[in-house]
This record gives sequence, structure tokens and C-alpha cells, in this order.
Amino acid sequence: MTVKIGIIGCGGISRIHAAGYLKIPDEVRVTAVCDVAEKNRHELAETVGGAQEFGDIETMLAEADIDGVDVCLPHHLHKSAVVAALRAGKHVMCEKPLCLNLEEAEEIRRAVRESGRILMCAHNQLFYPSVQHAKKVLEEGTLGRIYQIRTVDTFLNKWLNQNAGWRGRRELIGGGELIDTGYHPSYLLLYLAPSAPSEVTAMLSQHRIRMDGEDSAQVLVRFEDGTIGNVVTSWAYARPSGWWQFLVAGEHGSMYRRGDDLVIELEGQEPQVFEYPSVNTFHLETAAYVRCIREGAQPMQGVEDGIRVLEMILGAYRSDSEKRIVSLAASAEPVSAS
Ligand SMILES: NC(=O)c1ccc[n+]([C@@H]2O[C@H](COP(=O)([O-])OP(=O)(O)OC[C@H]3O[C@@H](n4cnc5c(N)ncnc54)[C@H](O)[C@@H]3O)[C@@H](O)[C@H]2O)c1
Repeated sequence: MTVKIGIIGCGGISRIHAAGYLKIPDEVRVTAVCDVAEKNRHELAETVGGAQEFGDIETMLAEADIDGVDVCLPHHLHKSAVVAALRAGKHVMCEKPLCLNLEEAEEIRRAVRESGRILMCAHNQLFYPSVQHAKKVLEEGTLGRIYQIRTVDTFLNKWLNQNAGWRGRRELIGGGELIDTGYHPSYLLLYLAPSAPSEVTAMLSQHRIRMDGEDSAQVLVRFEDGTIGNVVTSWAYARPSGWWQFLVAGEHGSMYRRGDDLVIELEGQEPQVFEYPSVNTFHLETAAYVRCIREGAQPMQGVEDGIRVLEMILGAYRSDSEKRIVSLAASAEPVSAS
């Protein structure tokens, strides 16, 4: 079966997704593209070697010959596109974040249940071999009890100075940098953590970029088993060379990701360095989505994973605005975007 995909939103990231589909032409074809901007949809249609072009989502869902969609829209448009696609019987891969608040998330959860279709959260950085290796090390208990997990994603975002576009407007992005780039170290933290998050607190800042929301965030999370998580994320400065992207410290030692490699340092032993090649995680992600559709399998990260990340980030926003620690326990007052 050759899977037929419709890409919704033909801007920056869609080009990278499209290149991923083009790598496995026997398994998938992009047969439709949708964008309100004619130039963008036309260029993407040409890139994929020809596809039906649509200027609105409903028409594409009604008319295009597609099995699934790939949602690459600005954040405020995710929920309506995802729900419409599921209701039209299409599988969905959605770029991060899942949506803007928990009311929207609930609507998506219901649409997934009712449709029986696949909803894959595009958490691409989990496809790094070093992340998968670290997950295995944690599951095998090599580090013993886990004390802390830190995740970092920072870069010097120069293009936002000229035109922040939808990213500069709080109601469209859903906050600021934390719900955009900061989403990556957030889902990574939750993926690696040995238990569910119970409390979150955060400090947000606007160091350099003039936009509605923060350009930098530091988030602290307490997990049910006592592990402490710390997310450091920013558009104000590059990650200094030598900084790890994640660091896990536990009873028997620590491990961290440096470049593409995983370093494990167990107490009393020489550090072990596991070298991995550079991979394009977007291409691994699109291939995984296609495989799920072909095999009827569930994705590595589905709707519940997306909602957990959102809850943590919304809790961080509330913590910063109310200057307090926010409970994430199931019985706690629900966190939603302010
Ligand atoms: N995983 C990553 O590392 C990564 C990197 C960049 C972006 N993203 C995510 O991808 C998504 C898109 O980001 P981007 O940088 O490609 O944005 P972008 O602004 O470059 O592209 C968005 C596109 O959506 C189109 N659009 C706007 N309203 C529309 C509508 N109503 N119907 C159809 N098309 C519409 C725009 O014309 C534009 O072409 C966001 O969720 C973002 O967070 C993820």
C-alpha cells in the first residue's frame, strides 16, 4: 500500500517533512497540499513532484485522495485542522504543540477516540539514537534511582528580530518560546522521566527579542518518584559548545548527550562513549508516521503524550504569572492558557 498524504501548511517545516516523504517513494506520496498562500502551496506541490493544491482545509479534506494529513500550521490553527481531519476519517501527524489549551486538547482526544484514526505528535527529537539509547539505559535501571534530569535547547534566533510574524503574538503561538522551541526539551524531559510530573514552577524572561511572550524560560518539575527535572530553553543565546542536550544523574552515575553521542559515567568506572551518526530526525519521524498508517500501529507519541507536555507547559506559564508552584496532580485544578 502506498500511503497518500496531504500536507496542511506549506511554510518552513513542511519542506523538511516533504523531503522525508520523498526519501521513501515506494511507501508514500504527497498527493495534496493546502495553504492560504498560493505561492507556498504551489512551491511545495512542485517540490513533491506534483500534488493537488488547495486553499482551504475543508475542501482538501472533502476532495483530496489522501489517507492522512501532516499538520504544519501556526499553533492557533492546530486544533481545528486536527479535529476536522480526524472527523473526515484521516490519520493525522501534528507538528508541536498539539494545540493551545486543555479545552482544545479534550476536543482532540474525543475526536481521536471517535474516529479510531492515528494521531501522532511530531516529537522529532525522540528519534535521535542517543535518546533511544538513554531511554533503554533508564528502563534497565543502570543508573539506579534517578535524582535529576536536565534538558536544554537554546539558539540565537536572529530572524525573529526582523519579523516575528505569528510567533510574536501570544494568542497565535500560545505563549512564547517555551511552547515553541521549548516544547522539545519539555517532551524530552517527560519521555526520559521515570514517573509522572506532579509539580511545576518556572521563570520566564524576555532577554533580547521584542515579542508578546517570553524568549527564554527555565522550568523546574518535580516528579512523583522524587526526580527533579529542569528545562533550559531560549532564543536569546546559542548553546555554548560543550553543553549537553540532556543530562541524567542518578544513584550509580550519570549520562548525557554530547553532539550525537551518548556518554555514560558510572561511579568508579571509565566514561563510556557511544558514538552515533548524525541523523535527520524529521525524516525518521515522517517514515515512522507512514509505517504506522501502513501497519495500523500506534505511534511512539500519541494524543495523551501531547496533552501531558501541554499540561506541563501551561502549568509553567501559570506558575510564572502567579508566582507559585503549580500542582500537576490528576486531582488538581486544571491548568489552561491564560
Ligand atoms: N519540530 C521542529 O523543530 C519545528 C521547527 C519549525 C516549526 N515547527 C512547527 O511547525 C509548525 C509550522 O511552523 P513553520 O515554521 O513552518 O511556520 P510558517 O509560518 O513557516 O508556515 C506556516 C504556513 O501555514 C500557512 N497557513 C496559515 N494559515 C493557514 C490556513 N488557515 N490554512 C492553510 N494554511 C495556512 C502559512 O501561509 C504558512 O505557509 C508550527 O507548529 C511549528 O511549531 C516545528
